[in-house]
Order: sequence, then structure tokens, then C-alpha cells
Amino acid sequence: MARPAFYVTTPIYYVNAAPHLGHAYTSIAADVLARHHRQRGDEVFFLTGTDEHGEPVALAAAAEGVEPQALADQNAERFRALMPQLEASNDFFIRTSDEQHVAAVQEILERVKANGYVFEGTYEGWYCPRCADFKTAQEVAEGNTCPIHNIELTRENEQNWFFQLSAFQERLEELFDGQPDFVQPKTRYNEARSFLAGGLQDVSLSRRGIDWGIPVPWDTDQTIYVWWDALLNYYTALTYAKPGEDLAARFWPANYQLIGKDILKFHAIYWPALLMAADLPVPRHLFVHGFLLMDGEKMSKSLGNVLDPFAVIERYGADALRFYLLRDVPFGSDGSVSAAAFEARYENELANEYGNLAARTIAMVHRYRDGIVPAAPLDAKLASDFEGLPEQVAELIDKAEVTQALETIWERVRRCNQYVEERAPWTLAKDDATSDELDVVLATLCEALRTLTVLLAPWLPASAAKLLAALGAGDDSYAAAAFGSGSLAAIEKIEPMFPKDPDHAS
Ligand code: MSP
Repeated sequence: MARPAFYVTTPIYYVNAAPHLGHAYTSIAADVLARHHRQRGDEVFFLTGTDEHGEPVALAAAAEGVEPQALADQNAERFRALMPQLEASNDFFIRTSDEQHVAAVQEILERVKANGYVFEGTYEGWYCPRCADFKTAQEVAEGNTCPIHNIELTRENEQNWFFQLSAFQERLEELFDGQPDFVQPKTRYNEARSFLAGGLQDVSLSRRGIDWGIPVPWDTDQTIYVWWDALLNYYTALTYAKPGEDLAARFWPANYQLIGKDILKFHAIYWPALLMAADLPVPRHLFVHGFLLMDGEKMSKSLGNVLDPFAVIERYGADALRFYLLRDVPFGSDGSVSAAAFEARYENELANEYGNLAARTIAMVHRYRDGIVPAAPLDAKLASDFEGLPEQVAELIDKAEVTQALETIWERVRRCNQYVEERAPWTLAKDDATSDELDVVLATLCEALRTLTVLLAPWLPASAAKLLAALGAGDDSYAAAAFGSGSLAAIEKIEPMFPKDPDHAS
């Protein structure tokens, strides 16, 4: 039987500035889903990349006095380089300036036109050049400003090609009503559903006077409105990511498309409508996350309140950043980030809970049993606390609940430390009469540490690989996460996984 396919995407990032922690956040969450599904034996495709055309990039390039392509080349490289540093295991990195993407966008839009959904018209209304968004009346904040960027909107009056979005009113309503988990979490579903209920207006398909973009194939004086160009990346990437192979048949529609809350309308309304117009299936799920806030405001380059992910990784490693972000900013809600909160999570949880559990377990096996895990029965009480854990994690991951899934595992990390205190192996070790009991406790702790580490691998890939190697546990598949399925023998000592002072760790 063919393995299940799992396709996950992040938004493609604007190359108008360097990556910040907000971008890292989505990529890390998508990576957790990708890694977990690989553990389950699924055939996974994980896509990320850069959005290079349109006004946001053209304006930034002009401000720096460089050509848009030069700015795009420079910043796309930074985003590309960020992925391995985050330990993000993306299968491809798309750039919308790729010539195959350009050709595929033109071809799909020709089809949309042939299907009768394109017409010539005039747009008259408000527009945010930073969002590249034609705002509807409900989306305009006081004083005709952009509610996202707090800048004055421009008044546009331009003749261009239109996409007949209104033709999809009913089909989108059917989609939302028939697939209540199309958009998660529920609050975002409701937001998109009420936008839809407000009635859809047709939207520009092309722009006049914005040269930095894909030419409209039937009217090369105009370029394709950047959002259509950008949205299509999720599909076009599959057509050329693997030379000589069209992966779309295998991976489209996407299982999960992760996005931030500011780009909900484009993904929940425009995107499925465009796909319908091109005779393509719509994605199965969109998961909408919140913003990383600093001092109560959205972290963004323009506001100048950014934490540099490269600097955090350099000091503490990617695992610590991955853990911190997904734990402190519940996936689906807004959350504040700060250096102090990062350090607290690092020290209290990674170092003192998980790191310490690993360190003390390994140390005791060496001290009392010469580094050999006793071949003893496992403690039924602790085993019962682990019962059903892999299934619970998988169920949460199936809903993209990456914070909740991590918490479910972490409860067991804490349970194990409590078990150490309850059973006090150091006391059992003092008396030959309790030697068998000590064997049980040590064998149980090693097995617990092994299964927890298998489950944590999607969040903490580098640390998990190191620890599983020390435990002599080669299998990190989902099946290996079952408590009692392991057969550990000799285990090796390791350096502290999360040193208190990383700069002075050996
Ligand atoms: N290029 C468009 C997306 C096109 S997808 C077809 C775009 N780019 S962006 O670089 O501005 O934003 C990319 C993603 O980063 C969005 O999902 C956005 O929500 C997210 N974030 C940017 N700043 C953020 C925070 N401070 N916190 C969390 N995520 C935020 O929009």
C-alpha cells in the first residue's frame, strides 16, 4: 500500500527585509509537523520560500537604491540560510522569481481566463502598499489607515484585469459549511466566514505601473497582482521541485498550510476561489497562528522591535529556540517574547527538567550498573502514566496543535522527575535487598527517557539525535515511541544537553 502523503507549507516570506523571529516561528511549527509525519512513515513534502515580486519589495528596493532583483537575491539567501540553522527540514525552497514558477503562474491564469473568470475593469478604492492589499470598507481603520501597518492608505483608481471573486460566493460558503475544520482555530474560521457573509467583491488580477512582477501573458503592459503570484507558489513548486517529476499528483491538495493571522483573507477566501477557478482542489486545512509580540506590539522590522533568530541560535542552539517559541507562544494565539522569558524556559524546563532527567538517569546507570541498562521488568505504575501517549500526541499533531502536543509530552517529563524523587534510587542502591527494585527503577527510567526523546524529536531534533545515540536507541520512528518497545543495553555518558552557561560549555 502507498504511504500516506503529507504536504505542509509556510507562507513565502517577503524579501523586503531580513528574516526575524516571526518568520522563524512558522517555519519551526511547519517543521514539527513535517518531522512528526516522517516518523509516522508518511511521505512528506515541506515547502517554504520567498515572495519576491510586487510593491512591498519594489518599494524597499527603491528606498535602498538598489534593483528589486538585487534586494531579492540578497534577502532570499538569508531566508534560505535560516532554514538549516533552525533545523528546518524543508524539501524545497521556492523563490517566486524562479522562471518555472513564472511560467506556471502564467499558464494557470490563462486557464482561469479561459474558464471565464477574468474581465477588464476599474478599481477605485483604498490600498495598502505594505500589505499589497485592496482594502474593503470593513478593513479600513480610522483616518483611512491600515490596521496592520498603521500607515495611511492610498486611494487607487486604476484600470486593470479583474478576477471574478464574486462568482465563488456560494461555492466558498459550501466549503466553509461542509468543512468546519478548513480553517483552524475556530476564531479564525469565524472571522473568514463572516468576511464571506459580508458578500464578495471582485478583485484586481493585475496591476498597471508596477513593473516588478510577472507579466500578464495576454497583456504584457501589466503585471500579475502579487498575491495571486504568491499564492500559486504552493502549487507551482510541486511542478518543478523535483526535476522531471510532477509532484502535484502525489501531494496536492496540501494537508496543512500554516499562516499568520494578518494574511487570513488571502488564504481563506482568495486562494480557494482561485483554485476553484483553475479547476484545482482546495487545501485540506489552514492553520492560522498569532503574532509574536514585543512590548505588546507585533514584532516587525518596520517597528524595529525584532529579536534576531541567528543570534539566539548561535548562543543556545536551534533546539532551544524551537522549544521556547512553540511553548511560550501557544500556536494559534498571540504571545509575548523576551530574552528573559527565553532564559527562564531554557533554564527551568530544558536544563532543569528534561536535561536533568537525562543526566541523572545516565549517571545513575553508570554509577550503580556500570553503564548497562538492567534487564528488569518495567514499573507498571509509570508505564500506565505513559499509556496512550504517542496516540495523544499524534491526535494533536493531526490538528496542528503543536503547543498542546508538546505540553502533553512535557507532563511526562515532569512525571519522570517526580518518579525519581519518589523511588529515590540512591537509597535503593545502599541496600542489597533492594537491588532488584533498583534494577526496575533504572530500566523504567531509561525506557521512559527513550520514548520521551523519540516523541520530542520533532521539537528538539538535534538534542534527541544526540541522546538517542547515547542510549543506543537507533529507531526514532513513531512505533518506537511505545513505552516498553525498546531494548536498551549499554548506554554512554554525554555532555549536558542544555548547559547553564552555553558560552562556557565544552
Ligand atoms: N509574502 C506574504 C505571504 C505570501 S504567502 C502566499 C507575507 N510575507 S511576510 O514576510 O510579511 O510575512 C510572512 C509570515 O510571517 C506571515 O504569516 C506573517 O503573519 C508572519 N509574521 C510576520 N511577523 C510576525 C510576527 N511578529 N509574529 C508571528 N508571525 C508574523 O505576508
